[in-house]
Amino acid sequence: MNRTFTEPSLHQLYADYFPIGAAVNPRTIRQQEALIAHHFNSITAENEMKFISVHPDPDRYTFERADELMAFAERHGLKMRGHTLVWHNQTSGWLFEDKIGGRVSREELLRRMKEHIDTVVGRYRGRIYAWDVVNEVIADEGEELLRRSLWTEIAGDSFIAKAFEYAHAADPEAELFYNDYNESNPHKREKIYRLLKSLIEQGVPIHGFGMQAHWNIYDPSIDEIRAAIERYASLGLKLQLTELDISVFAFDDRRTDLKEPTAEMLKLQEARYEDIFKLLIEYRDVITGVTFWGTADDYTWLDHFPVRGRKNWPLLFDTRQEPKNAYWRVANLVLKQP
Ligand code: GLA
Repeated sequence: MNRTFTEPSLHQLYADYFPIGAAVNPRTIRQQEALIAHHFNSITAENEMKFISVHPDPDRYTFERADELMAFAERHGLKMRGHTLVWHNQTSGWLFEDKIGGRVSREELLRRMKEHIDTVVGRYRGRIYAWDVVNEVIADEGEELLRRSLWTEIAGDSFIAKAFEYAHAADPEAELFYNDYNESNPHKREKIYRLLKSLIEQGVPIHGFGMQAHWNIYDPSIDEIRAAIERYASLGLKLQLTELDISVFAFDDRRTDLKEPTAEMLKLQEARYEDIFKLLIEYRDVITGVTFWGTADDYTWLDHFPVRGRKNWPLLFDTRQEPKNAYWRVANLVLKQP
């Protein structure tokens, strides 16, 4: 934890705009503790609050790792975002099954969902300021609005509204978000917009939309990101970037030979980070948080995903946890203001 920093704290630089967050896990809060405490004022549990992590069996909750991250946030005075209550991934299989291995009824599934939300949101009530209530329900392709999943097959579309109602009842003060990726793609953007609009029209307690922002050095364009912010903000919702990282590889690039990012990659990444933060500052009235999906390039979920055996370098700090030029480009937007 002993370390002196010569570069200014990112969250202090952005104090007039929005909190700066990072996704963390029990390993990174040790390996990156000083860096997190210096530069960030908000955290999200990378995996430790997901259904499968906290509720592996019907009658058993396992909060040890989630509690450890919550304690880390409180020890360092960081805000905490909750992630995530209802999702088709990383969710325990038993949730959808009855005692003899068949499908559970709609009523029983909703009852279990409510019990889960009451327990998890209730445990951290007043300490987690915002929850990703529902994650990734929109279908990427085609005209279907919702992705098919056990949720839609058993409960129909209304499970989304129900999840928000239950979360609101469990902690009326918490800000409730819908969260999704490919959020700046015009086709998916319009579908997400339709879902959000219909939730608002039904009077569902939803307060914000989380733009995951898993982007790369080429995509999406700043114009597409701007159009997405404008579109979602027109609904009167708060917006956050919830999982920001900028992969140095194009979506269809599968090369695995690089030991270091190329100079060209770093140059494009720096420019992207600068352009993105310029835009975020411009929209500071609607942006209430910017969370990176990680802290420094020594650990990122993009190592070996989606391409096995490939390292990635998507963050503002390098593998030695030193500030990259990308960090300085983001910092200078604020430091060099007239
Ligand atoms: C999605 C989820 C996150 C995380 C990332 C990959 O974006 O919302 O919780 O699993 O995928 O790390």
